Parts: sequence; structure tokens; C-alpha cells
Amino acid sequence: MKRNKWADHYSRRARQEAWLARSVYKLQELDKKFHIFRPGQRVLDLGCSPGSWSQYASSKVGSKGEVIGIDLNRVETPISDGFRFMEADILELDPESLLSQIGTVDVVISDLAPRTSGARDVDAARSMALSEKAMEVADRVLKPGGKFVCKVFESGDLPGFKGSLQRRYRQVKALRPKAVRKGSREIYLVGLSKIDNQEAREV
Ligand SMILES: C[S@@+](CC[C@H](N)C(=O)[O-])C[C@H]1O[C@@H](n2cnc3c(N)ncnc32)[C@H](O)[C@@H]1O
Repeated sequence: MKRNKWADHYSRRARQEAWLARSVYKLQELDKKFHIFRPGQRVLDLGCSPGSWSQYASSKVGSKGEVIGIDLNRVETPISDGFRFMEADILELDPESLLSQIGTVDVVISDLAPRTSGARDVDAARSMALSEKAMEVADRVLKPGGKFVCKVFESGDLPGFKGSLQRRYRQVKALRPKAVRKGSREIYLVGLSKIDNQEAREV
């Protein structure tokens, strides 16, 4: 019998541990390294479906915290009492009206990924458009001092994107978690401590 290529160590472990996707182990590694979550925080999860990052964030922020997830696809499984889902195309979202709907948050996490076309350049450009939109949303809704986690794909546009984050966050770290599939060009950038908009203008 042919082995299912997706049934790797992390997917089997996710099933055993009742996580909704294997991607949870990427966020877990990022959290262990950069101490992203604390009890009581408000978190915005962009591209949250099927829901493992929201599950993980909910378990970390606890009953006094809140997680708001946005995706084109519904989250079908109940996550926690403090989880709220919004069905939306992030590319169509106006960050200002999102701010008026949800208020400010302590952490923005984005695992947004476009449906792949197979054409490397097209996929890299679509992915970068999603990462830039996530950054724009974080510009509006993330509190000063807040943290931003963003999936990106290695491409010629990546240094420019990293530079944009370095102008917005006191520190920007890059990590390729162990759970990233072999051959994938995916890495994660983490903005630690968002610079106050006022301060950024004065620099
Ligand atoms: C890799 S999955 C996220 C997995 C999720 N972090 C988890 O742990 O369950 C990427 C998600 O991005 C969403 N997505 C892609 N483009 C989007 C868009 N324009 N607006 C909203 N969501 C989008 C997809 O629907 C998909 O659910």
C-alpha cells in the first residue's frame, strides 16, 4: 500500500493530540522561542481555518483572553468560549472598519496562504500580497508593544518586506520551524514590540 504523503509525523501527532492541523507545531515552536502569548491577551488570527492556531492561542490566553479569527473558509469545529470567527476576504477588508468592529489587540498572527497555482512567481506574488495586507491590518489594530507573526515565502520581495517590518517593530526575527514541510519555501517573521505610530513618525 502506498503511504499517504501527508500522514507525516506532525499530522499523526496533531490527530493524537486533538489539534485541528499540523501547523500548530509551527506556532508552538515560535511561541517557545519568542514568548508570544500571555494569559488575558486579545489575539487576531488571520487565515485561521481550520483552526489549530486559534486553538493554540486560545489555550494560551485562557478564559480572560479572546481570539478573533478571520478566513474565507469557516471554522467548523468549536474552539473555545473566547473565540469569535469572521468570514471575510482579508484582501477586501478595510483595516479602519475592522478596528471599529474588534478594537485593538495584543497579538496579530497570520498564517495566510493563497491557493497555489503551481506557477512559482504567481504564487510568490499572491503570498506577498497577503503578507503585506496582514502587515497593514496589524498597523491599524495592533497596540504599541504588540507582537506580529507572519508567514512569508522566500522570494526576491522578502528583504523589502522584512525592511518594512523593521521600520515598524523594535526587533524582527526569522524562523523556519521544524514542522515546515521539506522543500517548502515558507518561513515566519516575528515583529517583537510594535513601535508607537507617533514615535515612528518622529524618527
Ligand atoms: C495554511 S491555512 C491556515 C491554517 C491555520 N493557521 C491553522 O492552524 O489551522 C491558510 C488559510 O489562509 C486562508 N486564506 C487565504 N487567502 C485568504 C484571504 N484572501 N482572506 C482570508 N483568508 C484567506 C485560507 O482559506 C486558509 O484557510
